[in-house]
Order: sequence, then C-alpha cells, then structure tokens
Amino acid sequence: IRNIAVLTSGGDAPGMNAAIRAVVRACSYHDLECTGIFRGFQGLIEADFEPLDARSVRNIINRGGTFLKSTRSKEFQTKEGRQKAYDNLKANNVDALIVIGGDGTFTGGQLFSKEFGFPVVGIPATIDNDINGTDFTLGYDTALNTVVEAIDKIRDTASSHNRLFLVEVMGRDAGDIALNSGIGAGAEEILIPEENLGVERLLDSLRKSKKTGKTSSIIVVAEGDKSGKNIFELASFIEENLDEYEVRVSVLGHIQRGGSPSCFDRVLASKLGVGAVEALMNGKTEIMVGIHHQKVVNVDLLTAIKGEAKIDKELRRVADITSV
Ligand code: F6P
Repeated sequence: IRNIAVLTSGGDAPGMNAAIRAVVRACSYHDLECTGIFRGFQGLIEADFEPLDARSVRNIINRGGTFLKSTRSKEFQTKEGRQKAYDNLKANNVDALIVIGGDGTFTGGQLFSKEFGFPVVGIPATIDNDINGTDFTLGYDTALNTVVEAIDKIRDTASSHNRLFLVEVMGRDAGDIALNSGIGAGAEEILIPEENLGVERLLDSLRKSKKTGKTSSIIVVAEGDKSGKNIFELASFIEENLDEYEVRVSVLGHIQRGGSPSCFDRVLASKLGVGAVEALMNGKTEIMVGIHHQKVVNVDLLTAIKGEAKIDKELRRVADITSV
C-alpha cells in the first residue's frame, strides 16, 4: 500500500477533524501518500480529491465539523455510482480507503470493498454511539458534555420558576446520549428507545417526587423514544394530568453535533486514526477500528453495523436511585 485516501461521510461529529489529522500524520510517519476526498462518497464519485501532507492538517485538532465536508450520497447506493468511485480511485493511484462515519458510511464502505476487492477500513464517528463492537464513537463524549451544559442552564429556569422541562436530545434509535446526559445532568426521568416504561409510570414518578418536596424537574427524552407521543404531545399529556406543573419543552437539536471536541474525543480520534492506517498496512480490510477497554480493536464492518442495543441496565438502575 502506497497511497491511502480518507473521507468523512454522514452526519458530522466532533473529533472527525482530529481523526483526519491522525490518518494524514500516520501516513506521513510511515512514508505513505495520503489523498483527501471532499464531500464523502459523493466526492469519491466526482473525483473531488486533494493530496494531503502533514502540514495540511495543522490547526484542526480543536475544530468541530469536518474540513473534508460530509454528505449522505444517494448515488453511491447505485452500482454505477460505486463503479465511478472505483475508477477515480484507480486513476489517482489510491490503494486503500479510510471511511470516517457511522452505520450508513460503514454499509457503503463494506459493500464497495466487497464489490471491487478494494481495501476499506472504517473509523466510528457519530454522536449517537450506536456502533456495535466499540465502546465509544467519536463525537459522543463531546455531545454529552454539550447536552449536560445545556441542561444545566435550563435547570436555572426550571428551578427559578418551579417548572417541569422536557428536553429532547438526539441519538436516532439509540438512548446512549439521553441516559448518560440524563444521569450527568441530574434528570428526574429519562425516556429512551430501548426501554418503553410507559407514560403512566412517568406520571406516578412525577406525583411521587412532588410529594417528597421537589419543586422543579427535568425529563430527558431521546428523539427515538417509543412512548408513542412526540415531546409536545407528552408535555400536553403531563399538563392535562398533573395540575401542579407548568411544563416547557426544549429541543436541543444540532447544537449537539457542533463544537470543539473534548480531550477524550481528540485522544480517541488520534488512536483510531493511527490504528486505521496501521490496520491497512497489515493487510486488513472490511473492518472498523474501535475501542474496547481502552485498546484499539478490529471489528468486521458487518458486525459493526448490526446495531444491537448496548444500553447498560445498571445505568438505568443508577438513574432511578439517584433521582428519588
Ligand atoms: O446521526 C447523527 C444525528 O445527529 C442523529 O442523532 C439525528 O437523528 C440525525 O443525525 C439528524 O440528521 P440530520 O442532520 O440529517 O437532520
């Protein structure tokens, strides 16, 4: 392998830039060429390539987003699109590809690798933490800190006005952000997609806590929650059933995807970037480099996208105990 290309695809996540930097620097360290591909798989199809050297990635370790830009390419889902991508890689003498993103990115990368026998390694990057076989995905820790900081601010108003706040957080079909930020921000209740405890239990819990002297409350609701009500319907439902509370809704949205990556995400990105380049040098393909018990591990891309729920039951218990 002499030339490795790198791209970011799908939703951006803090730490993507740090991962690109690590890939480029690892290539430089090992005397390999590195090619940056702009706009994800779409840029691969349109040959939006640029050679990168160690100095091209200066001053980006601290920046959110991705300087290579990102897309969700429909064309790459077609055989013709992938053929164009392959032809462009060959024409530019690229021997292997590192894809940084989430399950959609890995699905595309795995298919492409299989179809053309082209070496592909994935780096998990999504705030959702919904990739199988890695303890953490890039961007998740930063997103958690962003959410906790936002809820801390909301708490000021909740407590000053004796209000109940429903705060919606991202995560697609995973409850990792909700459960962990909920515990970290001291939420009263946390609604996650993996476990629908029902709206009646929510009312009971709010009644109980009112009796024990709570004057304000915060409920964290994962966007993929399965209560059957959206967050605004949930707010009306609570107001209709409990007179004691004035309810407000706050949907945090895309602020969760932005911002300077935490030190944890920067270190993780650096480890995974180096790990991805070295995996390719060792002849690995169709794998993701993940992190397990602080060690870089190789996981088949097909296993990585299985999307099994990895919510820790013990965390739910801790949340229940600490919110009495
Ligand atoms: O996968 C990251 C994520 O932010 C999810 O949490 C969310 O459901 C989705 O992307 C939002 O996608 P978009 O930015 O395309 O609206």
